[in-house]
Amino acid sequence: MRIEYKLLPGNERKNPPPEGTDLPFGILRTNHMFVMDYADGEWFNPRIVPYGPITLMPGAMCFHYGQCLFEGIKAFKHADGEIYIFRPDQNAARQNHSAEVLCMPSIPVEVQLEAMHRLVDVERDWCPSEPESSLYIRPFMFATQDELGVKPSKTLLYCIMLSPSGAYYKGGFNNVVRLLISKKFHRAVSGGTGTAKAAGNYASSLRPHSYAQSLGVEQVLYLSADNTSIEEVGTMNHYHVLKDGTFVIPEFGDSILRSITSVSVLELAATGKIKARQEVVYLDKFIADVQSREIIEAGGFGTACVVSPVGGYIFEDGTELVVGNGGIGEHSRKLYEMYTAIQTGKAPAPDGWLSRVARY
Ligand code: PLP
Ligand code: COI
Repeated sequence: MRIEYKLLPGNERKNPPPEGTDLPFGILRTNHMFVMDYADGEWFNPRIVPYGPITLMPGAMCFHYGQCLFEGIKAFKHADGEIYIFRPDQNAARQNHSAEVLCMPSIPVEVQLEAMHRLVDVERDWCPSEPESSLYIRPFMFATQDELGVKPSKTLLYCIMLSPSGAYYKGGFNNVVRLLISKKFHRAVSGGTGTAKAAGNYASSLRPHSYAQSLGVEQVLYLSADNTSIEEVGTMNHYHVLKDGTFVIPEFGDSILRSITSVSVLELAATGKIKARQEVVYLDKFIADVQSREIIEAGGFGTACVVSPVGGYIFEDGTELVVGNGGIGEHSRKLYEMYTAIQTGKAPAPDGWLSRVARY
């Protein structure tokens, strides 16, 4: 693809934070972003331009009807000084799935990959190498047509921005999260937008999330619409670990985001490195198994939060449920170490998991 470059002159560019900086998640920006337009049935004008405001008409449909989606990917600097993006092909495919759910056009996977690689190459000095840090890649796409009828927008913008980031939760893996098991709020229903990374899913998670925080816990564990089975957390899939060390992830179904972290864990299990499987996780059995210590650990999987241990749950009636000893379990720790060693090049990666960023 022919990408137009309008890079900032060297003297106008900000410098990356020095090595050793304790990076926040998602706050810092690099100097440039990737942008591409869609109109008349095609994508055109791919460009890398200075990171800055985007001008839209007030009637742009994204403001009114929320036709917006996004992705989240990480790039890592390895000991050889090169940058490797973790499974970007999976995110590009999921972006196209989200687009289909939201009646937006797809973008060929190769085009998305080239856009990410070219942008990361331009900003390669911004990729940190401290433990738990990465260059977080955030592609997003939204409706720009200036019309108030509720229908799919005929014009869109696809952008990619970058954020050198540390762990999603302060304290990283060592931060133990507690979750509200909510029977009052739901994230998704069968036939809805739950399998898509639709911006609206995150907007609707804000109220349950602040309710959970008012009860003293960090996040919400959503149940199926009939409150019988465990689905996922607002920013990560859920897992639990059985006494024999098996990781159990709820079956994706058609209301859970197909987490690339979960898929990767299942693929590692298929090679015999760990034990993991998916099944429908019924709430009543889950509670009984935590109480009887059949379930010894729990946590969340996601790009931003990686493997995030869950120490316990509360319910809306105030009852509490502690998993294991309420802290970090050895199986979660081992998996976290195995997974991050693969991402950072300290352990061999399965074929195709790491995509080296070329020097264009
Ligand atoms: N579930 C939700 C709702 C998410 O927002 C995320 C984050 O991307 C995940 C699960 C984890 O998905 P992945 O591992 O692909 O980042
Ligand atoms: C990610 O894990 O990359 C996500 O997109 C979660 C996010 C909402 C921070």
